[in-house]
Amino acid sequence: MGGEPTQQHHWNGVLDSALDAVGNTPLIRLSKIAKEEGLACTLLGKCEFMSAGGSVKDRIAKRMVLDAEKRGVLIPGQSVVIEPTSGNTGIGLALACAIKGYQCIITLPAKMSLEKEVMLKALGAVIVRTPTEAAWDSPESHIGVARSLEKSIPHGIILDQYANPQNPLAHYHTTYPEIMHALATSDLPSKHISLLVAGAGTGGTITGIARGIRDGEAGTGKRATVVAVDPVGSILGGGEPGNYEVEGIGYDFFPEVLDPRPPLIDEWVKTEDKESFAATKRLIRTEGLFVGGSCGSALSGALRYLHSPAGQHIASDPTANVVIILPDGVRNYMSKPWFLDQMEDEAMVELKQQIKGVIGRELSEPGVIVQKAEEEGVTLQDGEGVGLGMGRRESGESRGSGTLVGSYADEKGGSISEVMDKLGLGTKGAAT
Ligand SMILES: Cc1ncc(COP(=O)(O)O)c(C=O)c1O
Repeated sequence: MGGEPTQQHHWNGVLDSALDAVGNTPLIRLSKIAKEEGLACTLLGKCEFMSAGGSVKDRIAKRMVLDAEKRGVLIPGQSVVIEPTSGNTGIGLALACAIKGYQCIITLPAKMSLEKEVMLKALGAVIVRTPTEAAWDSPESHIGVARSLEKSIPHGIILDQYANPQNPLAHYHTTYPEIMHALATSDLPSKHISLLVAGAGTGGTITGIARGIRDGEAGTGKRATVVAVDPVGSILGGGEPGNYEVEGIGYDFFPEVLDPRPPLIDEWVKTEDKESFAATKRLIRTEGLFVGGSCGSALSGALRYLHSPAGQHIASDPTANVVIILPDGVRNYMSKPWFLDQMEDEAMVELKQQIKGVIGRELSEPGVIVQKAEEEGVTLQDGEGVGLGMGRRESGESRGSGTLVGSYADEKGGSISEVMDKLGLGTKGAAT
């Protein structure tokens, strides 16, 4: 497997820094979804949101920084790391830069979430937003702006995830061996990958893992199927360029690190936003995994392939292992309408009505009880405990929750309290 000397598969003892907590993510059974779908095969999710910086891109950021330092092109105390990214590579790089003491500039298309920007700023990076609509080779795109900054900022350097061989190598040397280690030490009947499904942005993840798979199966007579998932609106898996909401996957150009054809990648599946976000919700609700939007794309693409004629032999094989890469977590998308809309859930209506009958008021309005107590001249503090004192206030908005839905309120119109009430989050009497 490429001659990398040691591969750590779990954490022993004390780690030197958060960089040592990059990767080594768990492979978790998606058994409820497999059952609901009538699949005999084992469905497994590689949970990259559990990496130190919260995504699959931590791996490439760490590897590109360490490699550049080794080659002497990144100089401690001097170099300024500049990177065009859809956010997650930026977070990984900003994490590495914070630990190692480099300044970091991230160019980020406008559509990428506020949460990613906040994370980047928290790590000390400077953010430049660019128009989502700009073609990749326009001077106004995130790539164009990064290139012009690199030319003019003294000691500025783009590590360039789109062309840097360390991007796929990070997955060849870490993600793939981790999957194989998890399978080898499992009680599953087969220790091989039958089907790998991953979304493609730069393509580093799928290309690196697929190269590991192909090298690993050489001479064994086995052959895994590798399926890439691509949003409608991206050209990577075919089709015309257009708009889509899912972040991190798809492009209007072919990145150098992506090897899109057989023998590496066997098939491309195109996904729509709607199915991706529905599948994201399903992963959270049924499997308890706090995944982001492109994880839903990967799951949806995997299910489409498994239910297609080509995927039948894998779907119906109880010894087959299907590995789905889940690239990041919902931390990145908490203010996005597609995530907040999930809270308006019809399935909960009956249970909410029952609870309302028991407590005699709206679920999210404890303030009604406070008001009633005040009117009747009684105190709510007569019990043994002391209450959650810091949350008590006369009236008004909850600042904490209001901030969470601020951008949603902006987008949908209406005040924060109206939006929160609509979502069933309530504002009256909520703790700050
Ligand atoms: C959320 C998310 N999903 C998937 C990917 C795709 O990974 P890769 O660039 O390795 O193809 C990315 C990459 O930025 C991402 O941020």
